Amino acid sequence: MTSVPPYPPPGCPAHTAHPAHESLHGPEFATDPAAVYRRLREVGPIAPVELAPGVRASLVVGYDAALHVLRSTETFSKDARRWKDLADGTVPPDSPVVPMMMYRPNALWADGAGHRRLRGAITDSVARVAPATLRSYVEASADTLIDRIAPAGRADLLDEYAQVLPLLVFNRLFGCPADSGERLVQGMSGIFDGVDAEKANELLATTLLDLVTLKRRRPGPDVTSWLMAHPAELTDEEMVHTLVLLMGAGTEPQQNLIANGLRLLLSDDRFAGSLSGGSLPVEDALDEVLWTDPPIANYAVHYPIHDVVYEGVLLRAGHPLVVSLAAANTDPSLTSDQRAGNRAHLAWSAGPHNCPAQGPARLIAAVAVEKLLDRLPDVELAVPVEELAWRPGPFHRALAALPVTFPPTAVTSSTPSTVGDESPVQRTEPTPRPSAVPEAGRGRRGWGARLLAWWRGE
Ligand code: HEM
Repeated sequence: MTSVPPYPPPGCPAHTAHPAHESLHGPEFATDPAAVYRRLREVGPIAPVELAPGVRASLVVGYDAALHVLRSTETFSKDARRWKDLADGTVPPDSPVVPMMMYRPNALWADGAGHRRLRGAITDSVARVAPATLRSYVEASADTLIDRIAPAGRADLLDEYAQVLPLLVFNRLFGCPADSGERLVQGMSGIFDGVDAEKANELLATTLLDLVTLKRRRPGPDVTSWLMAHPAELTDEEMVHTLVLLMGAGTEPQQNLIANGLRLLLSDDRFAGSLSGGSLPVEDALDEVLWTDPPIANYAVHYPIHDVVYEGVLLRAGHPLVVSLAAANTDPSLTSDQRAGNRAHLAWSAGPHNCPAQGPARLIAAVAVEKLLDRLPDVELAVPVEELAWRPGPFHRALAALPVTFPPTAVTSSTPSTVGDESPVQRTEPTPRPSAVPEAGRGRRGWGARLLAWWRGE
């Protein structure tokens, strides 16, 4: 990589012509992202894209290029205050991608020593969650949700299972009181749906500030209190934004790993054969999903600190570089030997900002999937796998619905009470409603709106 100037040479056609920006928003990208990644690879390892109307970025599609950007901290910064198009008004503050890309004082957007301080508090606090405790939270939440759908014989496993379970677990882990539940869901859902994102952002911040104030007064055995007690001494503002990060990271991608894993297990003969043979290769299915349909498809936004050239591509200071974890994973230059049975995929990203919760995230997904297959062993997709729709959006690989059928069963869960009588989760749960494959029209609502409706028992 070389610095600029004197690159590019004056008059160079590769740099004077503006290559078209492939769109990463809208239904076409959601339907066939692989086709978009293929076209982008023809441009080069880093190619221009549009994330939302008028929001331009460069997408890193090569595996080596991705590792280079993720690891070269002296050249690429995570600090979103460097985003020139947002600062100069080219990108409006109410653009739907702004809440996912804007600077917040938390680990995700920090560099160097500041990053190590904020991340250290997270890693140490998450490490205090005992795997057995986490497993019991997941099993109890899973049982509660399966009890609700089991008698109906049909369900949308996205709406009624994968989406809700991480929130129930999150509420337990972070010690959220009952009345925060709905407001947190409302805030998160607004941000992910990009509908009135600014308002949703504000709601999320005020609700989390209430939680922080409460835990400063009455700490408990939960991640929020452990973060506060950490020697890094996070301010209230840092606490709120760290909780936004943990909640965002811990719910949306988690739901997608569960749903994408179930989709694969229920549609691919390799896994179906083993299911009837009695051994559930859930870990294999999760590994495959992390390679082929990583829950966070394009993210890890970085900003060049100064103009640089990478393999002939000029990368301007302050222009967002989005790393395509999905395209890098499927880079044709990776041999199948490199892929089979190993975990060198980039689904958790790489470099100093890689996911610090890989172990817990895998455990939550594996237990959620195993529990469902154990309780509903004859579950089947209600539609051919090709008919399953994906939710539009540049950052995630997320199903719009996962309709299934199974022989109705009585409620027989063995562990629902382990959610705990004192659990805020249980107190905020709405009255059970009959489960159903989503009717026409329901699929057009954003996932957040649907989640909120579920939360309210509508
Ligand atoms: C299947 C679920 C998950 C996936 C696929 C996933 C993936 C990722 C990825 C790709 C990043 C890098 C993002 C970036 O650099 O912009 C990341 C960062 C992060 N993840 Fe996860 N994650 C998952 C679950 C979780 C959970 C459950 C938590 C916490 C409870 C968590 C906490 C974080 C945090 C704090 C960061 C930022 C780390 C930093 O900037 O140093 N993640 N995750």
